[in-house]
Amino acid sequence: MGSFPMHRILDLARLRARHGTELQPRQVPRPGAVRARSVCVVSGKGGTGKSVVSGSLARLFARVGPTLLVDGDLGVGNAHILQGVTPRGSLGDQLAGTRRMAELVEPCGHGLDLVAGGSGLAGLANLGAVELARLGDGLAELERDYRYLVLDCGAGISASTLAFARAADLVLVVTTTDLTALTDAYALLKVLGLPPRGPAAQLLVNRAPSEAGARAVHERIDSVARRFLGRGPALLGWCPEDPAVVESVNHRVPLVERSPGAPAAQALAQLAVDLREVLDPCHPRGAGRTLAAGTDPRAAKAARA
Ligand SMILES: Nc1ncnc2c1ncn2[C@@H]1O[C@H](COP(=O)(O)OP(=O)(O)O)[C@@H](O)[C@H]1O
Ligand SMILES: [Mg+2]
Repeated sequence: MGSFPMHRILDLARLRARHGTELQPRQVPRPGAVRARSVCVVSGKGGTGKSVVSGSLARLFARVGPTLLVDGDLGVGNAHILQGVTPRGSLGDQLAGTRRMAELVEPCGHGLDLVAGGSGLAGLANLGAVELARLGDGLAELERDYRYLVLDCGAGISASTLAFARAADLVLVVTTTDLTALTDAYALLKVLGLPPRGPAAQLLVNRAPSEAGARAVHERIDSVARRFLGRGPALLGWCPEDPAVVESVNHRVPLVERSPGAPAAQALAQLAVDLREVLDPCHPRGAGRTLAAGTDPRAAKAARA
């Protein structure tokens, strides 16, 4: 990615100007109730690199403070594979009531913990209000113990992905330069909405051939979104196509650990810094608490029954 030119710095200033106030909580946390700042990583289309990006960002956040990576992909969760750990259980067990969320926490080392997602549990991909409230309660149990929470979601507009995105402090939409990926990214933003009605969202263009290519993708999504939704997502940044990514996936070691000098790893390192500049000043809402509170009261009661 090379050095970071002035327009990136200006972008960041613009990001903060746009989103600084949007990242304030709807509810002010009680004094002493420190909760993790949360980012929810989503995409319209599958295979855009959400898990690769989440896995490395979580590793980089963990160097700064305790970080929890939650694999919110309840259909084909594979975040644990990318971290090289074998989890004893998954969110499916918490939903089934056989394990508490705290029992699912898998240490990955160096300040990073993981809660694994579902695997082959097709029924979990579309959750109802009761299940979402149960997940929210489980996350609320954990989020006081971490500085950052990274939610790696399944692709598309499943109920759980939308609920996670609405509960997080920030939504990171990952797209590639493929026309279908950027069309689906826009479709997801359309369903989620943007501030003031929807969550604060930013775009990451993965596997981009160049900065110009990434900017062109952002420009396309931004102009359609501004026209039909009244505003568009800010461009957080981009990550180049890099064979080191595939190699790190195959070795089950996050890219930033395995090949920190690779172009994609350097881009992710800068993206982590940029993301923290947006997240750190915000008062965390508590994604778990917000998820639990966001469902209707009858569902929340049923979840705890
Ligand atoms: N920047 C990149 N350069 C090269 N290959 C990449 C890059 N990002 C992702 N990939 C490839 O795409 C695959 C799918 O990525 P993944 O993060 O699992 O997607 P998602 O979670 O969005 O479904 C990875 O296994 C890797 O082979
Ligand atoms: Mg994934």
